[in-house]
Amino acid sequence: MTSFVPGPTYKEMLHPELQPAGVRKLALAAAHELDPIHLFNITWRRPEGGIRHVVLPKELTGTKANIIVLEGRHFPSGSHKVGPAYTTLMEGELAGEIDPAVHTIIGPSTGNFGIGVAYISRLKGYPAIVIMPEGMSKERYQRIRQYGGSLDLTPGSESDVILVLERTEFYKKDPKYKVLAQFELLPNYRFHRYVTGRSAIEAASAYGNGRVAAFVSAPGSAGTLAAGDEIKARYPDSLVCALEPKECSTLFDNGRGTHRIEGIGDKMVTLIHNVLTTDYVMRIHDDDCVMGLELMERRQSLVAELTGCDQGSLALLEGLFGVSGICNVLGAMRFARHLNLGSNDNVVTIATDGFDRYPSVLADLAGRCQPLDRAKLCGWLETVFRSASPDDTLDVRATPEKDRLFAYKEQVWSNFGYSHDYLAQMQAQSFWDAQFEAIDRIDQDLKQTRNC
Ligand SMILES: Cc1ncc(COP(=O)(O)O)c(C=O)c1O
Repeated sequence: MTSFVPGPTYKEMLHPELQPAGVRKLALAAAHELDPIHLFNITWRRPEGGIRHVVLPKELTGTKANIIVLEGRHFPSGSHKVGPAYTTLMEGELAGEIDPAVHTIIGPSTGNFGIGVAYISRLKGYPAIVIMPEGMSKERYQRIRQYGGSLDLTPGSESDVILVLERTEFYKKDPKYKVLAQFELLPNYRFHRYVTGRSAIEAASAYGNGRVAAFVSAPGSAGTLAAGDEIKARYPDSLVCALEPKECSTLFDNGRGTHRIEGIGDKMVTLIHNVLTTDYVMRIHDDDCVMGLELMERRQSLVAELTGCDQGSLALLEGLFGVSGICNVLGAMRFARHLNLGSNDNVVTIATDGFDRYPSVLADLAGRCQPLDRAKLCGWLETVFRSASPDDTLDVRATPEKDRLFAYKEQVWSNFGYSHDYLAQMQAQSFWDAQFEAIDRIDQDLKQTRNC
């Protein structure tokens, strides 16, 4: 392979302090965002150690349980989706399948993965094309262009990802292109099960009984949801809850529709979604998340006044959430209430990215909902943070629900060339555990290729 640009092993992303000392020092000191040494900053960990997270004020969440949110916005490129973009490219390089002298990288996405792909490709010396729907927030397209990526836009918005997959098939036919297929490829599963799962377990260890009672995440590719596999491996009685937009409740009841939560609710059961470990599915109204973002970003003094929350604590949360981050927070609060969890219990969730890529979404909300007066905002606060319907929570642990989800997966992926036998293997936990166990070998290969 020509000019291999080195990056971290899986173990070094969980524990950057294991990186060669000189490399770690350079990575922490690097100023320019496009310096390839930043690959070594793909981690949930702060420079001084400890996992980047916040625990939400209980006056806000309305539950005694500790709602712990891991912060994705500090990853290079501004979201944790850069992690699976990196591992998918890195594993392809190690397998000898991807070479910067030969290939153009293709990133099928609704935004953050595409941003991650454009960023990683730039650092590793590849041209990149991101395929994504034309109706996403404009901040996403700007970032992709800023990293030198090209765009191939498909019709529709978030819930039209199937058109992105269909477009991907076109590129797969030409050997000059290599597709980082986040919905299909297992490096996405490996990154989140190992790096995100273990980071979540570590973050929770400082609170309550130190265990994780529940992991809550809204799937797009369902990579992040794989953290739940590792949490369940450590705490078998923990529960994993997948969130969906009420307007596109595919896992809940095979529902399909358009919605406003960018990054999630992609109208399919993705190939890398281990449905065996998903215990519950919860529907969240999309505008609850957009209104929640308005309240958290722009109306902190009102939120403090109405909830009794300290305004200083709310100020610390500024910039932390995008729309899907609010979705995850609402899901975590509502799931904790649904399970009647207490002060010893920890619920972990994720803020995939930060507010920087959503000002246009709040401008749109303001345009749709004038006047944003006190009465309206008070009503929003009640709806968003205090109400929830039991009808929106579905227990999917029983066999008929698993069979429904397996069948949905087969219906989608047999169209993209996956055999019945391969899909049947995915119905056993041993399939997923074997994927996870491959990490040791991959790390060794990478160290050998890096020569350190
Ligand atoms: C903003 C945002 N939230 C959530 C997700 C879902 O994460 P995952 O693809 O790991 O399920 C994505 C995925 O792109 C995203 O961009």
